[in-house]
Amino acid sequence: MIEQARQIALDAGRLLTAKLESGITIEHKGSIDLVTDADRAAEEYIVGQIQSMFPHHGILGEEGARIEGASEFLWVIDPLDGTTNFAHGLPYFSVSLGILQGNEVVAGVVYNPVAGECFAAERGSGAFLNGKRIQVSEQAAVQESLLATGFPYDVATAEKNNLKSFELVTRVSQGVRCQGSAALDLCQVAAGRIDGFWERSLNPWDIAAGSLIVTEAGGRVTDCSGQDFNPLGRDVCATNGLIHAELVKILTK
Ligand code: IPD
Ligand code: CA
Ligand code: CA
Repeated sequence: MIEQARQIALDAGRLLTAKLESGITIEHKGSIDLVTDADRAAEEYIVGQIQSMFPHHGILGEEGARIEGASEFLWVIDPLDGTTNFAHGLPYFSVSLGILQGNEVVAGVVYNPVAGECFAAERGSGAFLNGKRIQVSEQAAVQESLLATGFPYDVATAEKNNLKSFELVTRVSQGVRCQGSAALDLCQVAAGRIDGFWERSLNPWDIAAGSLIVTEAGGRVTDCSGQDFNPLGRDVCATNGLIHAELVKILTK
């Protein structure tokens, strides 16, 4: 399945960059929550491919795909993670495809079509970037770490807006980036380019694929209070493992 998932992600990524060049239509889902015709076209393409290759698999997609499969496999898909960046022409976005078997992610692919970077992992087989094995960093102190996070679209009104944690971690680390694609940020942890990432109020399609890529690269993934990670849940804290307890301690303050 991983090879087919990789091929679907590459083709969907090409569709996104072609759309970006030919012109996109932007709509509002909420006051700052955007969606484009490219998000919808990419989801339609991905769903069509999965259905023709794996007709019995279930599908859960951000842009509305809800297909209950007859098999135990569920594809959790974000056709375009980083829509706000995409809509502004900022080249940091991805296609994210996670495959769950029951409650466990068994395969994940995250593709950044602008950088030409395809991250992939199968449970138990390691994590790869364009076919080369990747590993989390060896940084053991938050004080020396570069981290990333993000904010929910209801940041202006939500109590759980992540702003307090952002301030606390910024004060005690080398920096906290807000790059706008949770799926890709997880892959940066897996590749050892950043030491940790956390975010609250996400959706399964943002984190399913990336969470497996981090654990297969030797990292640790929990929710923001250090409890077991649920790929169908909303919170994620992913690190190289070495800074995990220290970061969770700050996030639970
Ligand atoms: C968003 C991105 C962003 C994160 C938001 C997500 P979308 O997904 O992952 O980094 O901060 O919470 O909703 O809307 O671009 O698919
Ligand atoms: Ca997303
Ligand atoms: Ca999306």
